Amino acid sequence: MAAEEWTIAEHANRYLALADSVPHRAEGEGVLSEQVPRDARRILDLGTGDGRLLALLQVDRPETLGMGLDFSELMLEAARKRFADDERIELVKHDLAQPLPALGRFDVVSSMAIHHLEHERKRALYGEVFELLEPGGVFANFEHVASANHRLHLAFFAAINEPLEHEDPSDRLLDVETQLGWLREHGFDDVDCYWKWLEMALLVGVKPHELR
Ligand SMILES: C[S@@+](CC[C@H](N)C(=O)[O-])C[C@H]1O[C@@H](n2cnc3c(N)ncnc32)[C@H](O)[C@@H]1O
Repeated sequence: MAAEEWTIAEHANRYLALADSVPHRAEGEGVLSEQVPRDARRILDLGTGDGRLLALLQVDRPETLGMGLDFSELMLEAARKRFADDERIELVKHDLAQPLPALGRFDVVSSMAIHHLEHERKRALYGEVFELLEPGGVFANFEHVASANHRLHLAFFAAINEPLEHEDPSDRLLDVETQLGWLREHGFDDVDCYWKWLEMALLVGVKPHELR
């Protein structure tokens, strides 16, 4: 299984312990939150981990229902703890390497997860997300993307204060331009990189109200 390190407690716990300390992360997450409608009826979070992003989005959207997908039982357990007694949030075990199940209509978000998928699967997933969106709905993907070259890749790891040996073996980093091109191909409007710092980028697309 790709990304199987997320089923290992040491790896998952290390990520969760460090997640808040990644430089500039809160900035990018803040821009993501600005792009998601305040009156979103339902938000789907792909690779939700411990539900960090859903919790952030709940702050300004107390009425919104959230659904988090992840394939790691460890991460889902952390999310279940976070959202214990919160009936607005549903957590579903799903491997994003497989097609998205029919779950209804949403605005869709993701944070630091889709880069674990093989490139062709990323491309197909973006098409599946388009189908799940409400007309006018937003897809906001806060993502770990590829640097332009190896020197900049090393510089990113130095900037986040992580040795390169800690790089996830399942990372399948891809440049921003290719991913924006795929979003446009699938029919998204307003496609752009809305925020970027080194290898962290916010890729956004909107489903048109009227399909062409
Ligand atoms: C870096 S963590 C990010 C978690 C959370 N979104 C956040 O921002 O804190 C990556 C998450 O993607 C999940 N993930 C990786 N590959 C996956 C796959 N094929 N299907 C579902 N989830 C996956 C991992 O289990 C993990 O929870």
